[in-house]
Amino acid sequence: MRIAVIPGDGIGVDVTAEAVKVLRRVGDVYGRALDLEPLPYGADYYLQTGISLPPNGYDMLRDDFDAIYIGALGDPRIPDMRHGREILLGTRFVLDLYVNHRPVRLLHERLCPLKDRGPDDVDFVVFRENTEGLYVNVGGRFKPGTDDEIAVQEEINSYKGVHRIVKHAFEYAVEHRLTRVAMADKSNAMTHGHALWQRVFRELAPQYPAVEASHMYIDALAMQMVKNPAQFEVIVTNNMFGDIITDLGAQLQGGLGMAASGNLHPGRTSMFEPVHGSAPKYAGKNVANPVGAILSAALMLEYLGWKDEAAAVETAVKQSVVTGNGTAEIGGTLGTRETGDYIANQVAREGR
Ligand code: IPM
Ligand code: MN
Repeated sequence: MRIAVIPGDGIGVDVTAEAVKVLRRVGDVYGRALDLEPLPYGADYYLQTGISLPPNGYDMLRDDFDAIYIGALGDPRIPDMRHGREILLGTRFVLDLYVNHRPVRLLHERLCPLKDRGPDDVDFVVFRENTEGLYVNVGGRFKPGTDDEIAVQEEINSYKGVHRIVKHAFEYAVEHRLTRVAMADKSNAMTHGHALWQRVFRELAPQYPAVEASHMYIDALAMQMVKNPAQFEVIVTNNMFGDIITDLGAQLQGGLGMAASGNLHPGRTSMFEPVHGSAPKYAGKNVANPVGAILSAALMLEYLGWKDEAAAVETAVKQSVVTGNGTAEIGGTLGTRETGDYIANQVAREGR
């Protein structure tokens, strides 16, 4: 397997080093050939060359690699985040990575900000549509910079786009023996675009009789995530709502440092990244929590078909969190590197 590794900016560099450490250990222990190829894209590269990716960058990522692993992007020297948008959103769009798979799994009750909730209560997955919605950046500004300025930002919902993400959510539920899929939209206010989500959901739900399909408006769903998260197994929603509720979900599992994600097009080269940003002020200080990054690597292994290896990494991470062998953010005393060492050693202990 050939993996493109883009550590990116800030703490992305710190946590990617630990994800790579764990992946290498997986390779050794399970006798897997994992070719992890570091690529320099990020703020420094952009500032030096004036471009985010080389001209053939997206093609190269798609054609030369089996998966892409990204740390984080964002740098105060590039206030408009152009390089981040081009690398991250660009890859999502150009490689048509229409599924943003974001698990929300609490590993220990002490990390949950909700009263009396434990790992049994917070364990679901959000499927965020990842190629359309408000993120297509269609629109414009009329009379910009004046008191008469009008700004239009269109939301695109296509039948094909909505159908494939909702279908993915149902198929995932069936494959993983889950019995509940909740679709969230705002069809009470957005009676065009979100009526399409309603139509597609009603069309698909009957094809999955073993799955209980329910609908919630996104505001109610956000409330229910806090009030009673145990009711959720699979949530499917649009790009923007998915962005927002997965930050909420990250907090339910102990903070952004815990949250993993995969940007997928099943069967094609896909991209994996922790949900957190580059947190420049913590960069290089050996304090960033590498758990989200390492769990994103586990998601990648699972996607590549290495289920045992993925499970071993998840078990090792859980062990580190439960025993307090983690960073200060999650109540531990270890640094970023020592947490990575602990998890890598734990993987070796579990491996054959
Ligand atoms: C995320 C991030 C991105 C998004 C930003 C950096 C454009 O918040 O991956 O959730 O909105 O998708
Ligand atoms: Mn986000």
